[in-house]
Amino acid sequence: MATAVVATAYGGPEVLSLIEVEVPDPGPGEVTIAVRAAGVNPFDYKFYSGAFGTDPSKLPLRPGLEVAGVVTAVGADAVGPAGPISVGDEVIAQVSGGYATALTTSAARVVPKPADVDWKQAAGVLSVGGTAVHLLAATGVGPGDTVLVHGAAGSVGALAAQLAVARGARVIGTASAGRHERLRAYGVEPVEYGPGLADRVKALAPNGVDAAIDTVGTDEAVDVSLASVSDRARIASIVAFGRAAADGFKVLGMGPGADPGTEIRGNAWRELLPLLSAGKLDLAIAKTFPLAEAAAAHTFVMDGHAGGKVILLP
Ligand SMILES: NC(=O)c1ccc[n+]([C@@H]2O[C@H](COP(=O)([O-])OP(=O)(O)OC[C@H]3O[C@@H](n4cnc5c(N)ncnc54)[C@H](OP(=O)(O)O)[C@@H]3O)[C@@H](O)[C@H]2O)c1
Repeated sequence: MATAVVATAYGGPEVLSLIEVEVPDPGPGEVTIAVRAAGVNPFDYKFYSGAFGTDPSKLPLRPGLEVAGVVTAVGADAVGPAGPISVGDEVIAQVSGGYATALTTSAARVVPKPADVDWKQAAGVLSVGGTAVHLLAATGVGPGDTVLVHGAAGSVGALAAQLAVARGARVIGTASAGRHERLRAYGVEPVEYGPGLADRVKALAPNGVDAAIDTVGTDEAVDVSLASVSDRARIASIVAFGRAAADGFKVLGMGPGADPGTEIRGNAWRELLPLLSAGKLDLAIAKTFPLAEAAAAHTFVMDGHAGGKVILLP
């Protein structure tokens, strides 16, 4: 048996509760993982909010896209992208229903955890990191580009900004004032979002920027991207689905008209984990919560200014 977080209705974090669940024995191509840390993503609260429908037959819903933990059982042919998986392996897994003390999942999305990456970082890096890698690919960021990153101190934005700097781009990043020092440490030129953003960007890049990466999705972010980038194929958002359809720029992820980037996101661990392991990528951890306090964790993330990843510890 395991303890798991479920949403028993559609709504806010108050619909979350803990239940005891069976952990099935792993079948062919599956592994069972004792979870040491589970990453929290904004999708997790949107998932049961009703934003994707309110079909009562789908309840209860089990949130959680990513975990890090120790393999406790393997089925036949349990082979992940990095090779065969054995009992005792420390792993990172992209899953569904990750808010749990243990789970059984397909080996197809289970990769080795580098020994020098701690459980919290391991549980938090792949969802936001895969999205960041996809954003850079979609906008074709390379050496000599000037790139505007909206939300550059957010979990996705901070990784996209650091990866863009590593690719030789000049990065202008929006963030609240308290986060500007951190952005400078990444080699990013910070600007405050809010009224006058277009002028502040123009002051730093009078001839416009080559590409824009939007992790915020406000009309302000979209309008400044459209005003600053001449080629709309080099603007990508992970939030502004409606504006992307209306204004002809790229939108990435699972929404309508979006590019899911399944292959590039699925392979992003190959780039991200060595960088994290070598200390060349900073994944800020804002706060940890016990698994039993998932509702409080979601309330914290919903504020939109967590300042880093939020991790649940079983
Ligand atoms: N489509 C996809 O594939 C996909 C994948 C992952 C995430 N997402 C979505 O992307 C968004 C960001 O995710 P995340 O994990 O990076 O969230 P996060 O860590 O909470 O970061 C949110 C960021 O937004 C900034 N922000 C908040 N209000 C703002 C405003 N009014 N104007 C400009 N910036 C503002 C914050 O800046 P300060 O902290 O500096 O105030 C922070 O940098 C979420 O909506 C998430 O659901 C989509």
